Amino acid sequence: MTGCAAGLGRAFFGPVVVAWRKADSITNISPGCRPPCKNSSIFRGVGIDAAIHPAQVGGKSPLQADTVNFRRAAAGRHQREPDIQQKWNGINKFILREAIQREFIGIIQQVEPLAASPAASSGWLKFGTNSSRVKKQIVVAGRRNHYGRMNNRILGLLLAVGLLAGGGRAAEPAHTFAIGTNDFLLDGQRLQIRCGEIHAARVPKEYWRQRLKLAKAMGLNTVCAYLFWNLHEPRPGEFVWSGQADDAEFCRIAQEEGLWVILRPGPYSCAEWEMGGTPWWLLNEDGIKFRSRDPRYLGAVQTYLKEVGRVLAPLQITHGGPILMVQAENEYGFYGKDAQYMGAIRQGLLDAGFDVPLFACNPPYAMKNGFRPDLFQAANFGSDPAGNFQKARSIVPTGPLFCSEFYPGWFDSWGQPHHLGKTDKYLGDLEYMLQHDASFSIYMAHGGTTFGLWAGCNTPFAPETSSYDYDAPISEAGWTTPKFFQTRALFAKYLLPGETLPEPPPANPVVTFTPVELDETAPVLANLPAGLPDMKPGNMEHYDQGYGCILYRTTIPAGGPAVLEAGAIHDFGYVSLDGKRIGIVDRRQATAKLLLPARAESARLDILVEPMGRVNFGAGMADHKGLIAPVTLGGAELTGWQIFRLPLDDAFLAGLQYQKGPAEGAAFWRGKFRLEQAGDTFLDLSHWGKGDVWVNGHCLGRYWNIGPTQTAYAPGCWLHAGDNEIVILDTVGPDVPVVAGLAKPVLDELHPEKDFNRSHRPPVKLNLAAVKPANSGTFAPGAEPQDIKFAAPASGRFFCLESLNAHDGKPFAAVGELDVLDATGKPISHDGWTIAYVDSEETAQEDGSAENAIDGQTVSFWHTQWSDGTPDHPHRLIVNLGKTQSIAGFRYVPRQSEGGGRIKDYRVYVGDELVLPAGK
Ligand code: GLA
Repeated sequence: MTGCAAGLGRAFFGPVVVAWRKADSITNISPGCRPPCKNSSIFRGVGIDAAIHPAQVGGKSPLQADTVNFRRAAAGRHQREPDIQQKWNGINKFILREAIQREFIGIIQQVEPLAASPAASSGWLKFGTNSSRVKKQIVVAGRRNHYGRMNNRILGLLLAVGLLAGGGRAAEPAHTFAIGTNDFLLDGQRLQIRCGEIHAARVPKEYWRQRLKLAKAMGLNTVCAYLFWNLHEPRPGEFVWSGQADDAEFCRIAQEEGLWVILRPGPYSCAEWEMGGTPWWLLNEDGIKFRSRDPRYLGAVQTYLKEVGRVLAPLQITHGGPILMVQAENEYGFYGKDAQYMGAIRQGLLDAGFDVPLFACNPPYAMKNGFRPDLFQAANFGSDPAGNFQKARSIVPTGPLFCSEFYPGWFDSWGQPHHLGKTDKYLGDLEYMLQHDASFSIYMAHGGTTFGLWAGCNTPFAPETSSYDYDAPISEAGWTTPKFFQTRALFAKYLLPGETLPEPPPANPVVTFTPVELDETAPVLANLPAGLPDMKPGNMEHYDQGYGCILYRTTIPAGGPAVLEAGAIHDFGYVSLDGKRIGIVDRRQATAKLLLPARAESARLDILVEPMGRVNFGAGMADHKGLIAPVTLGGAELTGWQIFRLPLDDAFLAGLQYQKGPAEGAAFWRGKFRLEQAGDTFLDLSHWGKGDVWVNGHCLGRYWNIGPTQTAYAPGCWLHAGDNEIVILDTVGPDVPVVAGLAKPVLDELHPEKDFNRSHRPPVKLNLAAVKPANSGTFAPGAEPQDIKFAAPASGRFFCLESLNAHDGKPFAAVGELDVLDATGKPISHDGWTIAYVDSEETAQEDGSAENAIDGQTVSFWHTQWSDGTPDHPHRLIVNLGKTQSIAGFRYVPRQSEGGGRIKDYRVYVGDELVLPAGK
């Protein structure tokens, strides 16, 4: 180091230089050594892999794009300095120039005392290295936004001060995390990951710290966090990382609360979230193949992952942050088998700057699909850890055992019973994993609420509730529960020496208010925006609309009663003639038909379409919303339409014209409630029909009086002392327009009698007598999926599974999942499938509904009645495949969780008339 420069260097880098080392063996470089010198290979050899995080310019870190140039620059330093300066802007230039002037760019290996929690290492001034590949990083806290504008001297000073101020902190070491042969290794020590899933988007930002403190107090040392692509990129190239989307802040708070983080950025996340996190706007790419190497899909994925890397890669443990590892995709084995696609996702994460271990997760029996040895494999299951780890070991013989989704409960769908987990089994299985050095992640540790219109949809069409309480140990409103304390007590038995559990933080205050009337209304038909003309109705995305409702209008001629039919209505179509409600067509019905009455003269036909969330799981993800053409009346196609977009966003709501008094049909209702002080409350929506609710401009989610949820969680941080405004869009109308604030949620109250399409399964009668079974046999005991091949293909629109008895000798039948196989043995898509007939299903004490057998999820299952009556075998489940199919066999997935109903002897029927309309 020359004269003052050296002096300054020492001042600048004094304490740090002490730790200057070559990444892979850091012994032989002594301070004051001047590059290029005999060790200059450090420059030449190692190449700078880019982690100088200047003020972001146009979203891309210039350094990343120019690593190669820099390498070359470093190698031949003298002649290239000028063009480097051209290349870099703002702080890059400054640092590089300073460093080069000082002939000194460096990595500082930080030696870390063994500290269990991540919080210890969150120094704000960092120099870091990556053990695997030499990486040179200069990361300056508070760094990203302003530096370009700061003049060099000031910044130089700051760096010096920071270094000096950071003193010990600057020398604070980063931790290391690795996947060992049997264990996860934190700083070379075995780490048993006790993880729990919490979604930042499902918890008000103001409450993140309270929830994370609860997680820590329950005994977790790590949180798993999904990212939802569509939340972060609402429009192509427009990224949002603030407010509820500020996942970097969520990670930082987790670190401060002593929790590591496992990041699950997707691009597909499932999670009962709108389209599994995939952005709706990709639906406008005709025929796009999601979750595949379709370049239109992968291109968008890479842009997104790059952005995720920009924001979250600096929070990896390799950079002093809490992120231990990152998941590539999500349960891809359920969806496809293309290992190259998984490779592309992996590479996308690497290119985005993720250098911690990358992993894939799947249920063990789907792990081999798309398998890659360069991705650590985690297993998802809700029971039988011994059996499931054994299956996982049969695919991956070494590596830590990690159950990345262990279910304490399950999610709820509208019209189906509220799910409660079996706590004893949950605790028993957790203890098994603790005792057998396995790591795990409780999905969900805290479910929270799917605010807004983000709740997704399962197939066959089963929209999920906005409450995502999930019967998790930490309740929707962040309350401790008996399951919380049982889990805490269990974990307390398995703590590391010296590790203690903090006390749980207090719950947020709860307030109530007596019923208030919403006495102002804005009818939808009186608040329509300008219409868009179109010959034929297109889907919602076609009109560049992602969420909300959409109204289709045309004029129909005078005439007799006629059937109005659409290709499909996604998801609820409220049909009116000249403003008078005629009926409701919904996606639960096999066809989108409605009989219109006679009209003496031409009439205005309005179809208000209310989508629920887009399908988040399985083949049905390409879930266009709106009216799907052709639309015919009496068989004649209707053309010449006007389209009215109702996006339900802030701008749209602000434009509504309210009037005093009630309204008929679909309308917005508005009212106020007064609070002495703000606090959490649960809006009682049991008097309302179906729609969405807002408080003080925050959309709390959807509601539907059929249940099981009858309340909406209203976080106190979104309320205030004094007047608070409620707005409700109700598509069918309240019985009384009042709302009260309750002290507790109502999550388990079903009202099938209030369902406007109660018997969405058309009444039929069985017609098996004349049909010869396509196959019969005996299923093997146990939970393994079983593929049954027919002696000869059979064809038909209906598929019937008949149980003759069960392995446990009891009168019950249960099915985890049913797939029908085509001539190539490939499962046929469940799209358009409905349940045509089932002789018995338990829907009172648990959700044993028949739809669970064809929802693609093996954790949920069909189970015949056991609470009120126990009808005996034979039990029949008949699936309407939507059209005649040639069937070569089927896959029977027994119920996965321990319990009755695993079928032993069975018969299968295939045909076009296994059921006949009742009365025929
Ligand atoms: C799967 C998914 C999760 C979630 C759960 C069900 O395993 O990976 O995202 O959908 O099921 O809650």
